[in-house]
Amino acid sequence: MGGPLTLGVLGSGKGSNFAAIADAIAAGTLDARVGVVISDVPDAGILKLAERHGVPAMYLPPGRFKTRLEPEREAELAEVLRSYRVGLVVLAGYMRLLKEGLVGAFPGRIVNIHPSLLPKFPGLAAWRQALEAGEKETGCTVHRVDLGMDTGPILAQARVPILPGDTAETLHARIQAAEHALYPQVVRRFAAGETP
Ligand code: GRF
Repeated sequence: MGGPLTLGVLGSGKGSNFAAIADAIAAGTLDARVGVVISDVPDAGILKLAERHGVPAMYLPPGRFKTRLEPEREAELAEVLRSYRVGLVVLAGYMRLLKEGLVGAFPGRIVNIHPSLLPKFPGLAAWRQALEAGEKETGCTVHRVDLGMDTGPILAQARVPILPGDTAETLHARIQAAEHALYPQVVRRFAAGETP
């Protein structure tokens, strides 16, 4: 195939992790290209950001379920990613569980970033879970995606302190700053052909 690794980025939210990856590519510190950005939310910030970065941006309707895609929609998503010759699927704030239709189509080639030190605090608002549990430290994790929720093999983690007076918002902002450094580093390992 040759050429830089092509990323397919999936997101449901504002897209700051996508922006961190796109900025690293633009700065020449990550030898990859974003082939397409796809969202399950029609007005997601990540789609607008993709357009601003000159990347094809697409809304694909998820179907009738809340936490996963309808199997036909998941097959369609896999097909679109293939059509863009995606070599690594990057979940960046994608709020649905993936099933065999996508996980089977990209074996070992789907990564996710999660805002806790997994296996602690999987699931929603992990920063709030850590705060409410009285932890002194939390962080973020990049992991391979399997069929579970935030359960795949861990590729890298960054630690973030929980400071006195932290609110859910201040803590989440500190974790996100760590995410924006960590995610491009892990993608770089895939781009370099090291299967991390
Ligand atoms: C991040 O905190 C990530 O850990 C979680 O969803 C959030 C996405 O943020 N999976 P953004 O859309 O990349 O700004």
